[in-house]
Amino acid sequence: MLETLNPQPQDKILALIAMFREDPRTTKIDLGVGVYKDATGLTPVMRAVKAAEKKLWEVETTKTYTGLAGEPAYNAALVGMILGEGYADRAASVATPGGTGAIRQALELIRMANPRARVWMSAPTWPNHPSIVRYLGMTGVEYRYFDTATSGIDFTGLMADLEGVAAGDAVLLHGCCHNPTGANLTPGQWDQVIALLQKKKAVPFVDLAYQGFGDGLEEDAAATRKVAAAFPEVLIAASCSKNFGIYRERTGILVALTSPDRKAVVQGNLNFLNRQNYSFPPDHGARLVTMILEDQALTADWKAELEEVRQNMLSLRKQLADELRRATNSDRFDFVAHHRGMFSRLGLTEAQVTRLREEHGIYMVGDSRINIAGLNAKTVPVLAAAIAQVI
Ligand code: LMR
Repeated sequence: MLETLNPQPQDKILALIAMFREDPRTTKIDLGVGVYKDATGLTPVMRAVKAAEKKLWEVETTKTYTGLAGEPAYNAALVGMILGEGYADRAASVATPGGTGAIRQALELIRMANPRARVWMSAPTWPNHPSIVRYLGMTGVEYRYFDTATSGIDFTGLMADLEGVAAGDAVLLHGCCHNPTGANLTPGQWDQVIALLQKKKAVPFVDLAYQGFGDGLEEDAAATRKVAAAFPEVLIAASCSKNFGIYRERTGILVALTSPDRKAVVQGNLNFLNRQNYSFPPDHGARLVTMILEDQALTADWKAELEEVRQNMLSLRKQLADELRRATNSDRFDFVAHHRGMFSRLGLTEAQVTRLREEHGIYMVGDSRINIAGLNAKTVPVLAAAIAQVI
């Protein structure tokens, strides 16, 4: 039977991890996968996470199963962190293995509820979005998003394309820190997108994987909150991988907003999907997050460290934009300072990206997406000089 299987295409982001590891050059720079690194190149365990783990080791008395939807305290804490107060009667939710697990469950829910629903995704988007959509046999549609000429938003194109949304279609929106481009809608543009999608009777599907990495924890949730308040039904896939730095613990949540009288049925369907796919969601990361969010001192320390992380990325953005201005003698890359989140798409050709890797040991995704957090004060000028050489 297994001889009938065909090779699968490699995930382009994850393939970079192996390529980087195998590169013997000590000067190599990893700007590939979206993982935060400090100035020493380490992805640290956050202080509050360490403290919660220590406490958990002392107080945990059992490893028996949790709820099928996750620990209710985790779901409540995360819904609060994402949406604020006031959604208890509308929010059905399940804990999931990371943000990817939440996206997968959301898409399955959409397919179960409306097999004809198409899924609209920004061009470009995180490559795993269209990949899962295809894998599930669903129809994906692209809407214009990124303007390669300005490295900003092609808002006219975006609005024109979303005119084609049919009632019941799901529209995937990056809640903040767009991956892979780093270009984000302004609050005014969000209002226009919301008004258009309301008119079209679309179901917004928000991917919120970087809350706290852009403009701040509350600020990064603002667009998602606007969407939540504006539509009767909204799906939100959120991840704790980045903002709690617990990547391998696989900690995410899918929130489905519905009307209070539909909530029990929606919740039952979410539980059913968890049961079909993996039964109980992973607990360790979710428990740490709950412990942090339920303890004032841990919350304060976590927020402080998250803010350091965010400020570090902002400062790297500024340094890189300045260095590129100097090295290329142009303002071509000024957008790097205005983008938000972990990523910016630099607008280099695939051949230039290959040259950066082969000649300079600098690794970035083929579309020239860089992980800003992969840089430090020493490597910023190295990257700028190398870019100036290949363009
Ligand atoms: C990324 O885009 O690099 C991250 O979201 C990691 C991943 O799983 O692709």
